[in-house]
Amino acid sequence: MSYKDTYARWKSDPEAFWLEAARAIDWDRAPSRALDDTRAPFYSWFADGRVNACYNAVDRHVAAGRGDQVAIIHDSPVTNSVTRLTFAELQDRTARLAGALSAKGVGLGDRVVIYMPMVPEALVAMLACARIGAVHSVVFGGFAAKELAVRIDDATPKAIIAASCGIEPSQVVHYKPLLDGAIEIAAHKPEFCVILQREQERAELTPGRDHDWEAFALSAAPADCVPVPGDHPAYILYTSGTTGAPKGVVRPTAGHLVALNWTMKHIYDVAPGEVFWAASDVGWVVGHSYICYAPLIHGNTTVVFEGKPVGTPDAGTFWRVIEDHGVSVLFTAPTAFRAIKRDDPEAALLAGYDISSLRALFLAGERADPDTIHWAEDKLGVPVIDHWWQTETGYTIAGNPTGIEMLPIKHGSATVPMPGYDIRVLDEGGHEVAPGALGAIAIRLPLPPGTLSTLWNADARYEASYLTTFPGYYETGDAGLIDEDGYVHIMARTDDVINVAGHRLSTGGMEEVLAGHPDVAECAVIGVADALKGQLPLGLVCLKKGAARAHDEIAAECIAKVRAELGPVAAFRLCAVVDRLPKTRSGKILRGTMVKLADGLEVATPATIDDPTILDDIRAALAILGYPKSPT
Ligand code: COA
Ligand code: AMP
Repeated sequence: MSYKDTYARWKSDPEAFWLEAARAIDWDRAPSRALDDTRAPFYSWFADGRVNACYNAVDRHVAAGRGDQVAIIHDSPVTNSVTRLTFAELQDRTARLAGALSAKGVGLGDRVVIYMPMVPEALVAMLACARIGAVHSVVFGGFAAKELAVRIDDATPKAIIAASCGIEPSQVVHYKPLLDGAIEIAAHKPEFCVILQREQERAELTPGRDHDWEAFALSAAPADCVPVPGDHPAYILYTSGTTGAPKGVVRPTAGHLVALNWTMKHIYDVAPGEVFWAASDVGWVVGHSYICYAPLIHGNTTVVFEGKPVGTPDAGTFWRVIEDHGVSVLFTAPTAFRAIKRDDPEAALLAGYDISSLRALFLAGERADPDTIHWAEDKLGVPVIDHWWQTETGYTIAGNPTGIEMLPIKHGSATVPMPGYDIRVLDEGGHEVAPGALGAIAIRLPLPPGTLSTLWNADARYEASYLTTFPGYYETGDAGLIDEDGYVHIMARTDDVINVAGHRLSTGGMEEVLAGHPDVAECAVIGVADALKGQLPLGLVCLKKGAARAHDEIAAECIAKVRAELGPVAAFRLCAVVDRLPKTRSGKILRGTMVKLADGLEVATPATIDDPTILDDIRAALAILGYPKSPT
């Protein structure tokens, strides 16, 4: 069946389409129907089914006689080790941790925060929660204590599972002090913590609160899988929005199992037993969906890679991992390939490796620039496939369904809407624009199974953030176009979200931190183009009257403040003091104009600007920071 036929089949009978896809999942009680729209615009999928995510990701493969197949390969150039866990071993570890959590009173619906680096135990922790119906919330290790505290206060976890440390090429990340700091800041206190002691650093445990993972997991009887209702939350994953308050995306269990399983064959075209590698981090949605759940549910071997595309030890690391583990499909962010290309422009290091197992490279997380795609195609000799999705959706909105039909690739386009997604491009008034015209990208409701059902404890914010601007649609926050061939092109965000090395960050959140500096009266953070990371944040601050200290000193303090409060992942290193910010007569800061100035694009003085001479001051401040890089 062609892509067109498959898409048409979904569109003509979504209920039948998704019920058929649901048959590939093992149910404790099969759902009688797919969609429940009685609470629209809040939709649920497979709500009357009963199912367990861990059973589908682990136990069912053991039951089917595949317990000896490797489930997880942990490849860690930063600790110089490779370890493998079979499905049977994964079942044992998961059941024991789940049993211990359960013995400490963690049960259905209780939240558990997981703050861990790229170690297999991070997946064990996620699956152990799923096993007993607890709701995990993984927090990315690059976030500082204060950001972790915000998430603890929102999710109010009964327990936190963390590691003693993470290993970044430049430093050992001391997770335990960050965790202690976060618990101190947070108003909500977890009942207990479980700490994985790593060889590289043993953390001091807080008596009465902290448990050593090994002893803790050994202490209890293994737990069985607890079937949960189809719409029971599997996890909460916080993501950046317009303000500093992160949005807690809620992922219901059954839809996520059905949809992710479907994507493995139809989008990535892998068969059970093959090795799938998503080079991302468990702290992001790509990690949730394609390091942990989808490959395991589908019976694939997943690679947990604790390293970077370059510098661990060199730009040949990816090729080595592909060869050593026989990777069939690699999924990463374009920035990883930009880093490899920068360090090894001719891909000379490839010569030492056999990467013939690789069938395709998938890219997502940020716009895939045609240069990088060309380079990867040329050097790897396999299709390089861009696909577009978001934390909110959990999997591809627009992509190339290679397991159905490999569609012609157009560089700069994420290809076509996946079944389940009715994508429209709208103007400000909510009217559809002509093919090829730019507009806001929206998806007709309901969203398919596997997407978010709401924001944690924030139904009103969910409606206001996504469902209000265009009634009847989900607002993606992305702008772009659909061309004459139906190909989707994602061009930019319509909000204050920027994408730094594939990491989604809020400029509004950074502005909130800067505004907290005692000398700062007002500020703006913009995303400027960067050849490696796609975008970088750049802050411009105006000082309070009487702030007489050296500007350099204040800018340095601002940079340190963002690193301390948001974390190193913000990559906030560009900051300057200016006298005033350009504004419209109604007082709106002209951030878009400043982005153009920084990117060296032509800027027509906005008709609404309060005082055009301010733009000269901004140009001068940007020049000191080295922007624009290449003026046009
Ligand atoms: N825990 C703690 N700190 C982390 C971290 C983690 N999991 N991940 C990143 N950091 C730190 C880095 O060490 C760095 O710290 P520094 O300022 O002290 O050097 C900082 O956060 C910024 O990290 P990053 O933006 O990743 O830049 P980098 O210079 O370390 O690496 C790349 C650049 C391109 C190699 C890297 O970003 C990369 O591998 N990107 C792949 C993209 C990706 O996986 N995206 C996920 C979504 S699919
Ligand atoms: P995240 O929620 O972190 O996955 O980030 C989602 C955002 O990243 C999207 O809303 C887009 O702005 C951007 N993005 C993700 N994938 C792509 C892609 N293939 N092309 C362009 N932008 C993308």
